[in-house]
Formats: sequence, structure tokens, C-alpha cells
Amino acid sequence: MTDPAANADLDPLAEERDPGPAVPSLETIVSLSKRRGFIFSSSEIYGGINAVWDYGPLGVELKNNVKRAWWRTMVQERDEIVGLDAGILMAPQVWVASGHVGSFSDPLVECATCRRRYRLDELPGAESLSATDLADPGIVERLGLRCPNDDGPLSPPRRFNLMLKTFLGPVEDEAAIVYLRPETAQGIYVNFRNVRETSRKKIPFGIAQIGKAFRNEISPGNFVFRMREFEQMEMQYFVRPGEAAAAAFEEWLPRRRAWYERYGVTPARLRLREHAPDELAHYAKKAVDVEYRFPFGWKELEGVHNRGDFDLSRHQEASGENLEYFDPATEEHFIPWVVETSAGADRATFTFLIDAYREEEVRGETRVSLALHPELAPYKVAVLPLLKKRPEIVELCHRIKADLQRDVMAVYDDTASIGKLYRRQDEIGTPWCITVDVDSLEDGAVTIRDRDSMAQERIPVAGVKRAILDRLEAVRAG
Ligand code: GAP
Repeated sequence: MTDPAANADLDPLAEERDPGPAVPSLETIVSLSKRRGFIFSSSEIYGGINAVWDYGPLGVELKNNVKRAWWRTMVQERDEIVGLDAGILMAPQVWVASGHVGSFSDPLVECATCRRRYRLDELPGAESLSATDLADPGIVERLGLRCPNDDGPLSPPRRFNLMLKTFLGPVEDEAAIVYLRPETAQGIYVNFRNVRETSRKKIPFGIAQIGKAFRNEISPGNFVFRMREFEQMEMQYFVRPGEAAAAAFEEWLPRRRAWYERYGVTPARLRLREHAPDELAHYAKKAVDVEYRFPFGWKELEGVHNRGDFDLSRHQEASGENLEYFDPATEEHFIPWVVETSAGADRATFTFLIDAYREEEVRGETRVSLALHPELAPYKVAVLPLLKKRPEIVELCHRIKADLQRDVMAVYDDTASIGKLYRRQDEIGTPWCITVDVDSLEDGAVTIRDRDSMAQERIPVAGVKRAILDRLEAVRAG
């Protein structure tokens, strides 16, 4: 069993302070996502495909905003970090050198009667097994584990490699096999020299990348929490070996936790958890997860890893190319160590969505709102007419909206009464609504309504864009 002390939460009070999940049931978020066009199951008209999800009109805005917010924090605001966009397909030798062909696997057991397959560490009674126990061929018998579906006998665990394969070129033989990358990190390592030489960065410096990754997960689930096709937001920070790497690790860990708080996640629903030595991935010297209190428990949101010189050394050895760094100050040649911050774009989007969910009683009715950080909200502003029968009101709405659209995502809606229109915008997280009424035609002023406080204020038409941009700037500044 995993040693609870070695595996302890770095923040020992987190369990005691457990605020519970933001929503009691995942179903609330799944149904909101579908109803309002955030997330749909992929290929739905054909019955769907397991563990692949599609982002609808609002979902793609939200997820793009999450990725932009990450890029802003990790690249735009940092002088020593640059970006990269490497291919999904890479030379197959990359995955041999990285250790993924040999070790990127999960323990799989199969039921002898119904043939269902399970990830051993997700079976009831096996959730907290150590890596050593998970590899023990006698573990199923020792613990008396049975199939949760039909109580049938389970096979001993075998390692199941999670990489998805395809063929490159017109001949489908062994020599043409390539892998769909299971992490974006390797694209950064194989470009280390290119980026260093062209950007002329001196260590410590980082390379950041956002992109798709693929894993043939044995037991995907919990909506977009664990998918087979997903997106990662990874940054590899190259530093001097040893102490400098340990220090960089300790700096990046709180920064990454703070990022979720900066964009609105409730601090008490975040905690840090260090991996036990036998739980560490094949490349890691030290790993700490930033965890979130999902409706299905505390789960990994992001990993921060000290990867030592594992990756660059392996690629140097396998490729025969020199990947050393020359430090002109000390005249030393060495392989830099890597501190990695590895987040899931889908998992982060999911977290922001869950944590923003609010239900409250307003005048005897339930008001649902998404208190998303305005930078993440799909639409920043909705422009609404109080009376859609008055063409002058509608025309003024369109003029205001067209002006706003030059700078931000804005939407016009006149398909219900004003009360309903507000509720609709609340439910998709639009931070501000602009309402044009009969008086607007006389006094040249409109109402701006705030999503969270529902407070309303009269402002001149000419000042609408400034008011929205100032509010956005204010929340951005923090
Ligand atoms: N390069 C290191 C790496 O890939 P990881 O802990 O395997 O580390 C990093 O993955 C992050 O990627 C996770 O914290 C999670 O947010 C996201 N992730 C991993 N597998 C995922 C999956 N099957 N579905 C959605 N997100 C996933």
C-alpha cells in the first residue's frame, strides 16, 4: 500500500477544510454544457465515440480563453519563456528514447466471463495500491478482487501501453508505424537546440506549448476529465543541474496554483499532493500535483515535475546529436535539467466551469449563473432591447454591438422578455449586459447590468465601449 505519510498533502489542513464540490453532481454541469452549447459528445448522431468530446459555440470560446490566459501568464508576461507549436506526429524513435514505448502503460485486468477490462487501480478496493503492488502478478488473488459488472474472476494485471498508433505514408507495415503524441513535452525537447540557438536564450529559460495529445485510456470518464483525445498546456524550464532545478521547482509550484486562483478558482478547492517515490513517472525525480476538489473527489489538475536531465540525455544518446548547453559565464558544458509544468486545457476548462456554477433564489425563482472570470467568459457583453418592436431601439442595439465587436465578443438577443434574456446571459457567464430602452432614444443613455451583483447603472451610449474595456482592464489587473 502507498505510505500515507510519503503521499501526504503538502497542505495538511486541506482535508479538514474540504469545502465540498462546487456542484453536488457532475450531471448539473454535463446538462448545462449540452443545453447551452459548451460541450457535446463526439459523433453523437452515430451514438458517440467513447472519451472524445466536442466543444460547441460557447465551449470553444471558453476553452480558447483558458488557453489565452495560460499563454498570457506563461509566455507574454515572462521574458525568459518562448512559445512553440510542434507536430503531433514525430519520428517514432522519439518515443523509444523518451521511455514511452517501454514504460507508458497502466495495469489492466480482464474479466474471464464478461471480458470487460479495467484499470486495476480504479477497481473498488484497489484505489490506493502502491506502484509495487499494482505490478504484483498475485495482487488480484491476494485481495480477492472480482469484476464489478458480473462478479467474474479477474486476470492478473498486465501492462497496457497507452499510446495510439497510426501509419505514415501509403504502406501500412511495421516500418510505417507512428504514434500520436501522448504528451506535448517531447516536441519541446527535440526542438531544444533549435529554440535556444534562434532565440539566443540563456538558462534559466523556458519553452511553452499548447496542443493535442492522445492516450488510449483504459477507463476514461467523468465527462472531459479523462479523455482519449485532449489538449495539454506544457512548459519546460531549462536550468542548471541539481540545486537550481530544485529551487526552480519550488518557485513554479506556487505560481501554478496561483494561476487557477487568479482566474477565479476557489482557493480552498485547490491543494498540492506529492507523488510517493514508487508512484513517480519514469522520467520524474520529484512530482507534485495541483489537485482540485471535483464532484468525484480530489483529482489531479496539473503536474509539476522535476525531470532532471532524463529527456535531453536520452535524446542526445539516441540521436547522436549534441544537446549540451554551453555556459559562457562559467565555460561549462552540461545537459540542463528540466522543471516541467503540465496542465490539461480540457481539465482546466472543466474546473473553471464547475467552480463558477452558482444557484440562488431571486424573487422566488432559481437563478443559475456562471461567475466566470470576465477574461474567460465566452461573451464579454450582451446587448439587449427592452422593446424589440421599436426599430430605433433595435437599430441602436446593433450599432452598440457592432462597435463592441471590434474589440470583444459581443452578442445581440431579442428572443425573449428582458428578464429571461438576463437569465440566459447569467447562465452562460456573460459578465455585463447593455439594455437599450425607450428613454435611451431621448437621453442617449443605456443601462449596464452586472452579472454577479445584478446592479444596474445608467451610462451614456458613447461611453459603453470604454465602460466595458475599463471593467475588463480592472479585473485583468487583479
Ligand atoms: N508531460 C507530462 C505529462 O503529460 P501527465 O500528468 O501525464 O504529465 C499532465 O499529464 C496533465 O495533462 C494532467 O494533469 C491533466 O490535466 C492532463 N491530462 C492527462 N491525461 C489526460 C486525459 N486522458 N484527459 C484529459 N486530460 C489529461
